[in-house]
Amino acid sequence: MKNVLVTGGAGFIGSNFVHYLLQEKQDIECLVNLDLLTYAGNLDNLLRVKDDKRYVFVHGDIRDKELVNQLFDKYKFDTVVHFAAESHVDRSIMEPDIFLTTNIVGSQTLLEAAKRHWNLEPDNKYSRSYLPGVRYLQVSTDEVYGALGKTGMFTETTPISPNSPYSASKASADLIVHAYYQTYGMPVSITRCSNNYGPYQFPEKLIPLILHNAMNNKPLPIYGDGMQIRDWLHVNDHCSAILRVLEKGEPGEVYNIGGNNERANIEIVKLILSVIGKSESLITYVKDRPGHDRRYAIDNTKITTQLGWAPSYTFQQGISETIEWYLQNSAWVERVVSGDYMEYYSRTYKNSAVD
Ligand code: NAD
Ligand code: DAU
Repeated sequence: MKNVLVTGGAGFIGSNFVHYLLQEKQDIECLVNLDLLTYAGNLDNLLRVKDDKRYVFVHGDIRDKELVNQLFDKYKFDTVVHFAAESHVDRSIMEPDIFLTTNIVGSQTLLEAAKRHWNLEPDNKYSRSYLPGVRYLQVSTDEVYGALGKTGMFTETTPISPNSPYSASKASADLIVHAYYQTYGMPVSITRCSNNYGPYQFPEKLIPLILHNAMNNKPLPIYGDGMQIRDWLHVNDHCSAILRVLEKGEPGEVYNIGGNNERANIEIVKLILSVIGKSESLITYVKDRPGHDRRYAIDNTKITTQLGWAPSYTFQQGISETIEWYLQNSAWVERVVSGDYMEYYSRTYKNSAVD
């Protein structure tokens, strides 16, 4: 792995991954971060690496074929780690269109450029020969599997059954990645991760939103009965799993990544309130998210047994560090929630008890 294209590296997980990879892999020659800087992308997340000579930021769109091909020509990537996406379920419910173009067409644009630059005979449709050592990794989500009842876990063979426009767009992209493997023999990997938490997460997502509202003594919107369950994973553990798949994963395979850490939403909210010393009276139950998935749970057996990866954070350690980070970085939070975010917040929670 010498020349790496990271897409969406100014977002939550992408920026943590850029830090992680530059730290872990000193022999990387060049890491290009291609990011459109949507509301979710923030160059403040990358201040620590901006002077690293190996790091290059490109402001652009993954759907821009010409740009993506120029970047492949110029930087001779051997690795693509594709994070860029519209990632928020609530936004996808209100405005699905952009989820389809960014998450589906954007992924296919990257795949096609990678195929054209990596295939040894790009004009021969039967050619399945590629430059040695190249890999395209699609960062996907456990949401493609749909929802679980009280029991069971998602394995890599669980049928895809997405329920939101967001998860349907991610599932569609996964199918296209699979098609590039089956049809063209492209060396691809797909990772499907559970809910991440940690530094630099945009405060539209549950944990930073609750922290931000609680610190400002604002109502905490809990959808439905608050008993929906997610499997939480520290973002650094997600980054280490991605690197493991890049280095050891078999081409064409899907790897689930989870934290073995199922929690009901209301439990997380009460935990945050107790750590920061705020009253539970801020909790406000609001109308449920349409089509809300009840429970996610990841079976990690494949990545742990085949690739030897395991999460390293306990939830107690990870959540304490995360809360501390948001408290220490309130200026970052205030910067990212100014402007467009306030307009989004009032639209999303309109007619609920917290608007
Ligand atoms: P995010 O919303 O924080 O960041 C997305 C980034 O992509 C932003 O920097 C944004 O500017 C960029 N982007 C959006 N559209 C673009 C485009 N057309 N061209 C270039 N850049 C564009 O997302 P995140 O939470 O960091 O998620 C990253 C990836 O991980 C996504 O693919 C998401 O589906 C997946 N994922 C997220 C989680 C989670 O818990 N957050 C869990 C599993 C999988
Ligand atoms: O499972 C992986 C997915 O996790 C990723 O693919 C998505 O990109 C990421 O956004 C996340 O999706 P969720 O919908 O699970 O995350 P979110 O933080 O939006 O919500 C977590 C849970 O909290 C969910 O059950 C909805 C609930 N919730 C969320 C918000 C924003 C509330 O009750 N109130 C809220 O205001």
